[in-house]
Amino acid sequence: MTVISTEAAYADTWVIWFHAPGLAREPEPGQFVMVHCSAEGTDPMFARAFSYHRVERDRFAILFHVTGRGTTWLASRKRGDAVRAYGPLGHGFRLPDEPGNLLLIGGGVGIAPMVDVAERALTKGHQVVAMMGARSSGHLLPAAAWPKEVEYVVVTEDGSAGPKGFVTQHLGQYQEWASQIYACGPNAMFQSLADVLRFNGRRQRPEILMEENMPCGWGMCYGCAIFTHHGVRLCCKDGPRFNLFDVY
Ligand SMILES: Cc1cc2nc3c(=O)[nH]c(=O)nc-3n(C[C@H](O)[C@H](O)[C@H](O)COP(=O)(O)OP(=O)(O)OC[C@H]3O[C@@H](n4cnc5c(N)ncnc54)[C@H](O)[C@@H]3O)c2cc1C
Ligand code: FES
Repeated sequence: MTVISTEAAYADTWVIWFHAPGLAREPEPGQFVMVHCSAEGTDPMFARAFSYHRVERDRFAILFHVTGRGTTWLASRKRGDAVRAYGPLGHGFRLPDEPGNLLLIGGGVGIAPMVDVAERALTKGHQVVAMMGARSSGHLLPAAAWPKEVEYVVVTEDGSAGPKGFVTQHLGQYQEWASQIYACGPNAMFQSLADVLRFNGRRQRPEILMEENMPCGWGMCYGCAIFTHHGVRLCCKDGPRFNLFDVY
């Protein structure tokens, strides 16, 4: 891939666009790409997993939070730099064929895949509400990142933007409105979402994207096993999309 641009999005979080005709060829919403975050591929040796954040013709973007060596390296890439990657990988969300009301929930950088999901959902005639939960106002994806048709609702833990608390505490009217719910975020958010939806959200068969550590990304290393109610599954190969109530 060739870097087109690297820009700061918000606190320690970056958007990087790549020119990559092969990798941008019709990924499903919620699939991911494995990016080698070193020039030679030796240190760090394993590629890092990132969701497709936006896809346009022969290019795509990832939205990523700088957490360690790989993402620090990635944030310092400049226009024209070459980066090695492979994908698209895993199974993405299943969007309904009939137009419906889709509620997208992102916790922290788990919001990354939701912009691509929203863009595709809109082309299929769905109504979209996107909810993001973050620590504070400085950790929110800017509203300008969304297509104008999307209603964007924010919740912060300190109350500096939107209602105070966790996003799962403020689903309110949107939970009833939604015909389908999709979520991506930390495991604690999924647990809380399951607790909230357990008694009246099952009809929506909520789907989640899980983010287990993935050394290989395509079923070779067994490093990403997760426990579901139906046995052990590989997050990369069987997921990362799971039904919420199959795991929680
Ligand atoms: C399907 C999926 C989609 C994701 N999408 C996004 C996204 O869109 N945006 C985003 O910001 N993040 C995303 N993530 C998380 C992202 O992959 C991590 O934030 C990223 O791997 C961090 O890399 P790092 O090198 O900066 O961090 P580090 O903490 O340095 O390394 C992270 C990875 O390296 C492994 N590792 C680190 N040190 C060692 C060691 N000594 N020995 C063995 N293994 C080690 C960890 O287990 C982990 O897999 C996603 C993860 C998954 C699984
Ligand atoms: S990351 Fe290697 S098997 Fe899933």
